[in-house]
Amino acid sequence: MAEQFTTYNWVSRVNHWVVALLIIGLLASGLALDLFLEGAQAAPVRNVHKAVGLAALVLGTWRVVWRLTQGFVAPLHHDWQAKAAHLAHVILLVGIVVMPVSGVMMSYFGGHSIVFFGLFTVSGGPKISALNDIAGTVHAGMGKVMIATVLLHVLGAIKHHVIDKDDTLKRMVWRA
Ligand code: HEM
Ligand code: HEM
Repeated sequence: MAEQFTTYNWVSRVNHWVVALLIIGLLASGLALDLFLEGAQAAPVRNVHKAVGLAALVLGTWRVVWRLTQGFVAPLHHDWQAKAAHLAHVILLVGIVVMPVSGVMMSYFGGHSIVFFGLFTVSGGPKISALNDIAGTVHAGMGKVMIATVLLHVLGAIKHHVIDKDDTLKRMVWRA
């Protein structure tokens, strides 16, 4: 992918932070559902998770298409860390699409509908347990990969800002 730019324009910044917030909330709520929420406690969290996840499908797809058509921004340094950071970005971009698609598939082939905050409902499909299982395995597996990658990504951003004192974080936030 061509590296045409040296900073992030405002569309890229809004895209990054809106989708980042959605994804962090979805990873946290998904993890809570997996680890400790059960029964009556789990149901409302699962419903919000599915509705926000549907929004993430639309906004995330737009965000990934934007990055792929615009190209990546050139890194500030050209070393092994830049290569690792780029790999993390690619994993995150893949996850932004794979997570909601597998989530919708899991729900659909489990026969469950998605209620989008009372505005509209996406009906559940036929119960096909093989497809439900595959989608669930992908959702859980990619979820773990994303949690690890987001943690490394955020640590990297903090390291650039605090230790290297360079413009990596600034050019995604306020500086041109
Ligand atoms: C970017 C979008 C999404 C992210 C990052 C995400 C993340 C997660 C994570 C980390 C889990 C825990 C998986 C495990 O370890 O077992 C989970 C569970 C789940 N997700 Fe998602 N999810 C997303 C979108 C969706 C969507 C769109 C749906 C359905 C419409 C959905 C439905 C579910 C369901 C049903 C579970 C299982 C909950 C339970 O165990 O009760 N997710 N999600
Ligand atoms: C507090 C959390 C976060 C911080 C501080 C942060 C910080 C940054 C910074 C500074 C960059 C620019 C890196 C560079 O120019 O080399 C960046 C890029 C990127 N971040 Fe994050 N990030 C966060 C959360 C997330 C999350 C949750 C995701 C996944 C959805 C994500 C996905 C990306 C991607 C794909 C890029 C590559 C450029 C782009 O397409 O926007 N970030 N992030």
